[in-house]
Amino acid sequence: MSDGVPEVRVVADGAALAEAAAGEVAVALGRAVTERGTAAVALSGGSTPRELYERLAAAPWRERIAWGRLVVLWGDERCVPPDDPASNFRMAEEALLSKVPVAPGSVHRIRGELGPEEAAADYERTLRAVLGDPPSPIDLVLLGIGADGHTASLFPPAVGLEAERRLAVPARAPEPPRERVSLSLPMINAARLVLVLVRGAGKAAAVARALGDPPDETLPAAHLRPAAGSATWLLDRAAAGLER
Ligand code: 6PG
Repeated sequence: MSDGVPEVRVVADGAALAEAAAGEVAVALGRAVTERGTAAVALSGGSTPRELYERLAAAPWRERIAWGRLVVLWGDERCVPPDDPASNFRMAEEALLSKVPVAPGSVHRIRGELGPEEAAADYERTLRAVLGDPPSPIDLVLLGIGADGHTASLFPPAVGLEAERRLAVPARAPEPPRERVSLSLPMINAARLVLVLVRGAGKAAAVARALGDPPDETLPAAHLRPAAGSATWLLDRAAAGLER
């Protein structure tokens, strides 16, 4: 990204998206570990990143990441128990974290079972404990977007997102599970790299609006503009509107 303009990469399909994302993840985390000895990554939920996580847990990517140097966070979580099928933690644990040698105590899930307000406050305390106070930037924030232009658990209309002073916020989704917790937009935009993975024709309209000229600012995804970092959108051809 230069001057706030996100980089956009279009790849053929979902498999190519997962492979390209694995490369971006390995480079971003490798750079952070080289420069600072550790790397903080905030994982995304939803279904899109599952194939990425499965690839990272297998050769060749498994061997290319210094798992013991990572601090693992989440971009958002549903207010459900960690063993609930809707839990973003559970999906990442199954697809990735149970298969790689992350250091004990380095995985910091959002305790959604506390309910949105208490879980957001708890996660903010965790972020300050792990990243410092004021928090250092998260090296890599993985995100998806919904067909409505939401990202993490920041849902339209995107009113007042930039003015948020908290690091983590309670949120309410239009679809169940409705109660959520999300990194705030300023915390996301403080990242060194925001990597947005979007797959499928169902997202093409939201992508076109969020990346439009001018962007449709009613969409939270249109506000993904890291101040000092960069944003890369990885799209398959369908999400880029190049095929149905
Ligand atoms: C979540 C995610 C959410 C997701 C988008 C896309 O908790 O569901 O944080 O923002 O990335 O809704 O979801 P899919 O990848 O399932 O399309």
